[in-house]
Amino acid sequence: MSEQTIESILHEQRTFPPAANFAANAHIKSMADYKALCDRAAKDPEGFWGELAETELDWFQKWENVLDWQPPVAKWFEGGKTNVSYNCLDRHLTTWRKNKAALIWEGEPGDSRTLTYAQLHREVCQMANVIKQFGVKKGDVVGIYMPMIPEAAIAMLACARIGAVHSVVFGGFSAEALRDRLNAAEAKLVITADGGFRKDKVITLKDQVDKALADDAAPSVENVLVVRRIEKDTHMEEGRDHWWHEVRQGISAHCPAEPMDSEDILFILYTSGSTGKPKGVVHTTAGYNLYAHVTTKWTFDLKDTDIFWCTADVGWITGHSYIVYGPLSNGATTVMYEGVPRPSNPGCFWDVVEQYGVTIFYTAPTAIRAFIKAGDKHPNARDLSSLRILGTVGEPINPKAWMWYYQVIGGERCPVVDTWWQTETGGFMITPLPGATPTKPGSATLPFPGIQADVLDLDGNEIPANQGGYLVVKHPWPGMMRTVYGDFNRFRRSYWEHIAPKDGQYFYFAGDGARKDEDGYFWIMGRVDDVINVSGHRLGTMEIESALVSHPAVAEAAVVGKPDEIKGESIVAFVMLEEDYEAGDDLDKALKQHVVEEIGAIARPGEIRFSDDLPKTRSGKIMRRILRSLAAGEEISGDTSTLQDRSVLDKLRER
Ligand code: WTA
Repeated sequence: MSEQTIESILHEQRTFPPAANFAANAHIKSMADYKALCDRAAKDPEGFWGELAETELDWFQKWENVLDWQPPVAKWFEGGKTNVSYNCLDRHLTTWRKNKAALIWEGEPGDSRTLTYAQLHREVCQMANVIKQFGVKKGDVVGIYMPMIPEAAIAMLACARIGAVHSVVFGGFSAEALRDRLNAAEAKLVITADGGFRKDKVITLKDQVDKALADDAAPSVENVLVVRRIEKDTHMEEGRDHWWHEVRQGISAHCPAEPMDSEDILFILYTSGSTGKPKGVVHTTAGYNLYAHVTTKWTFDLKDTDIFWCTADVGWITGHSYIVYGPLSNGATTVMYEGVPRPSNPGCFWDVVEQYGVTIFYTAPTAIRAFIKAGDKHPNARDLSSLRILGTVGEPINPKAWMWYYQVIGGERCPVVDTWWQTETGGFMITPLPGATPTKPGSATLPFPGIQADVLDLDGNEIPANQGGYLVVKHPWPGMMRTVYGDFNRFRRSYWEHIAPKDGQYFYFAGDGARKDEDGYFWIMGRVDDVINVSGHRLGTMEIESALVSHPAVAEAAVVGKPDEIKGESIVAFVMLEEDYEAGDDLDKALKQHVVEEIGAIARPGEIRFSDDLPKTRSGKIMRRILRSLAAGEEISGDTSTLQDRSVLDKLRER
């Protein structure tokens, strides 16, 4: 976070209590209600979550035990049998919701589709039967690499239905990144589309899949199911590739949901960490379902009349929990939009809000800052009066952006819920409840009921109010990740040992710094590890460095984030070249393109600085703190006595 943002957050005093008429109709109506829930959950966590599991989910068989906690291994609702696809679809079909819109889809070039619960159920059952025909069984992994079309959600739900584990790979990732993820999880089937539309361009996803699978580089993949989205000649490999519209012919739309054990894996989602390759975050069936369900219901005060729109991509956890599983489990109407705001169409989001009468709108600070820049005239020219709640996620929101969102988009009528959470947490951890929590611009406010969050030092001691420390969670919750796929030790090391366990108490820590104010409100300060957040996308600096050094010209690379007005952070790469290579515009372009091919366009460095040396400690460790200051154009402050060669600083500064 920039100095300026920290400064403005430190002096933020404004408070916005929920309006009385809003609170009166909300699921959680007051701070007294909120506190009662928190107290109940703290005294009797198993009673609290057990009751919710009973009332909010349907079960084929009730659990025997709410929680078995052998730190850091949590098992929730053991002995129980349920199915997430059943909870998202079948149980609504016996109610009036059968003919309610489940999914409203707005495609980028203007086409649209609405699927009722009954229709979505049919599509999911058919795809589930097709997947089974490919020999995919319970526990097998299916890679999903899709644009934002209904079949992305249908594929996820179809996997869940038969107990296949999905691993969705964001459609903006490159063939290389896709191949790594398919191999890491040994995916048997890939579900993709011939292409999609992104920012006025056609993206040819199937070409990327072909590249990823070329030369048998992902040998576990036996079949590829391809949804037709763009009209283009697409290469289809005989025996391996199958058009969805062809293979579904004559396939039954009847497919009972497989009873799954509570702790069976629902999905893997790869995310960046501070070291090594991306981690496969594992979420399981019942706990994740319950947590996505309850957080959607309470944080968005979800009602049957709502039109809920989360603008994320299904390739990220936000899309998993708040486009697909949370809203559908609640029987809500969820909106899926293929487009993104861009200079050629800066008002496209507001068109969608107006057209469908969106009542709950959930987006990222980076989008909000881009809207501010595009000007008030775009939202002002649309009717946004249907909105009643606004949400934000992905990075700290600066008070200025919060206020603009509240005033210009929400007409000072809609509570703003700033939701702090992570891929690992499955759902919201720190967030206002819109009918209860007085909000403060820039603060994610208070923990969700049942979540015990705190700010500690490295030894597990509490930090006094208004001082920065590590943001931790002290008690397991149903939506927590269970392990890193195939690497339990990495799970233990990365999340549970950073802050030393104390007297049998374990602390979950996943990389953020925060402070608590005198009211106990949390102010997230951003990542304290080597993860950077570019436009709300989480990227490991190490991943980008590895991509750079895989280019023959690069001897060594160090990547840092630099504060950016719109994106939050932008990527700056310090690059040392091999002899025989010359720094210049051509190489600058070539290296940026190389990163795009290795990872994807989201990782393209904004700036490459060539240098003949990097600041290192005597033991050879790159001093990123110094590079961050250099990238931001700040004075180098703090201790530089461990620096091996001080003259490096002058050289780097001259550039
Ligand atoms: C950041 C996205 C401040 C944080 C759901 C976290 C936030 C990382 C907020 C997780 C917020 C997310 N305020 N920072 N409201 N929400 N973050 O796994 O640094 O893609 O650790 O999950 O995003 O990113 P991830």
